[in-house]
Amino acid sequence: MLPRVLEPEAMDTPAEASNYDAMDHSVVNAQFVADFRAAHGSCRRGEILDMGTGPARIPVALCQADPLARVLAIDLADHMLKVAHANIQAAGLSRRIRLVRGDAKHLAQPDGAFEGVVSNTLIHHIPHPGPALAEMARLVAPGGTLLVRDLARPTDLATLTELVKTYAGAESPAAQALFHASLHAALTIDEVRSLLNGLGLAFDSLTMTSDRHWTWLWRRPKER
Ligand SMILES: C[S@@+](CC[C@H](N)C(=O)[O-])C[C@H]1O[C@@H](n2cnc3c(N)ncnc32)[C@H](O)[C@@H]1O
Repeated sequence: MLPRVLEPEAMDTPAEASNYDAMDHSVVNAQFVADFRAAHGSCRRGEILDMGTGPARIPVALCQADPLARVLAIDLADHMLKVAHANIQAAGLSRRIRLVRGDAKHLAQPDGAFEGVVSNTLIHHIPHPGPALAEMARLVAPGGTLLVRDLARPTDLATLTELVKTYAGAESPAAQALFHASLHAALTIDEVRSLLNGLGLAFDSLTMTSDRHWTWLWRRPKER
């Protein structure tokens, strides 16, 4: 079994932020938004929370797909927030996407504050992700939807190297190194399942949704 090798938690240098945003994530981002909309339906005039928003490409894609979507996008890294701000402005969405510096492990909002909580490729950055997973579940409103996706650590180095070649082979050497490090820092789906079970967090499904991603989907039951 390949051991987990951590990356720095926040992506907080100008180079890290701009190199990450220069990578083409459009296909996985579009799939993420489609999967959220398939689970949630149209937005209901509440707010969606995007935890670890990075350059805010997912909030932008969600707002472009759904005219009712409004998003609170949080990230720990000031440099990433600057890139996100520019992307939101360029898309003309600054009135529908709020950008705030925040730590996914502890947010001030009350329980159930969001009609949806989403997060893509954040969890592998966090050395001990239990508190962040618990925050994600805590913040979903009754009847709301949680969609969390991240990379899954491969079983061996040969598989990891092959994934980098397949999905980042056309990217810059820096981007390939970043993807390699991210796969190495990721949890396996069994590690995620054991964390969720240990914390008593529910899921409708926790499955591998590609050869390199796990996805946790949960719809919080409506209150009677
Ligand atoms: C790999 S990027 C993913 C960005 C985006 N979700 C996407 O799919 O493109 C991970 C982001 O999570 C941020 N991050 C790491 N730890 C965090 C934390 N504890 N709270 C909030 N953001 C965090 C990093 O700064 C980085 O911008």
